[in-house]
Amino acid sequence: MKKIILIALICLCFAVPALAEYPAFDLENATVTLNNGVGMPIFGIGTFALSSEQAENSVYWALRDGYHLIDTARIYGNEDGVGRGIRRAIEEGYVTREEIFVTTKMWTSDFGNGDAAIDASLERLGLDYIDLMILHHSQPSNDVDAYQAMERAVADGKLRCIGLSNYYEPEDFDRLVNATTTVPALLQNETHPYHQSTEMKAHIAQYGTVMESWFPLGGRGNTQVLFNDPTIAAIAGAHGKTSAQVILRWHLQAGNIAIPGSSNPDHILEKGESS
Ligand SMILES: NC(=O)c1ccc[n+]([C@@H]2O[C@H](COP(=O)([O-])OP(=O)(O)OC[C@H]3O[C@@H](n4cnc5c(N)ncnc54)[C@H](OP(=O)(O)O)[C@@H]3O)[C@@H](O)[C@H]2O)c1
Repeated sequence: MKKIILIALICLCFAVPALAEYPAFDLENATVTLNNGVGMPIFGIGTFALSSEQAENSVYWALRDGYHLIDTARIYGNEDGVGRGIRRAIEEGYVTREEIFVTTKMWTSDFGNGDAAIDASLERLGLDYIDLMILHHSQPSNDVDAYQAMERAVADGKLRCIGLSNYYEPEDFDRLVNATTTVPALLQNETHPYHQSTEMKAHIAQYGTVMESWFPLGGRGNTQVLFNDPTIAAIAGAHGKTSAQVILRWHLQAGNIAIPGSSNPDHILEKGESS
């Protein structure tokens, strides 16, 4: 009898896959290893609401100032500018293509034509491959089709990593995971000190999926709310830092990849020093 129980226990151990863990950040090198083994910078530049010209300059300044991660999206209408900023920085010798990590997102209206949407983003960015492409929003009617197009593009060498954005319910995240074969490397959701995404981070830990914060400073036009928070302002005063630097450091220490948006070269430089 004991022997049967022992055999059953051994079988069970092999049947249940080891649960993944939330990816650990290497704060010294400002990187994280994603659940597919690819290394990703944990601090970058966001480009929401920037024109193509602004995005070109912001990306160029950021790469010049030591950033390696860039976030854009088809719906921002600035992928072409982002591509120009990347090429300027590479041509001037600040970075190589291999040293940087470029993220873009597939918009919901493209989900029915995912293969073409990926090729169009590659074309606008002027790149041979994209490091990370994510579905911009949950859309149960056809997000699985779009995700499967991204899986094909990984197999074709067009994308290195794939992930999701704006999935706020564990059940919705699982719906997509259960219908596809590649576990999302990353989930990009609104995350900041007033919206800490605690439940979703605990949920995605089982897949080894990492959280990336959008609106890390509270969002363009709304940053003063967080900057003037008494606790954040007091920490900043005590450490001789700005509120923005304190918040960005909080993201990294909490295990959130941070992609603050900026069109101001002084802010871009300051943020680089907070990482
Ligand atoms: N997946 C999604 O649905 C989604 C949604 C929204 C955003 N995103 C991504 O997440 C990124 C970040 O979000 P966000 O840009 O909307 O908001 P954010 O990063 O929270 O805030 C941007 C605002 O912060 C200001 N700022 C930046 N650095 C600063 C500093 N050091 N000191 C003072 N002010 C500073 C910027 O002004 P200046 O320009 O003057 O520096 C801008 O007004 C976006 O750019 C985008 O790439 C994704």
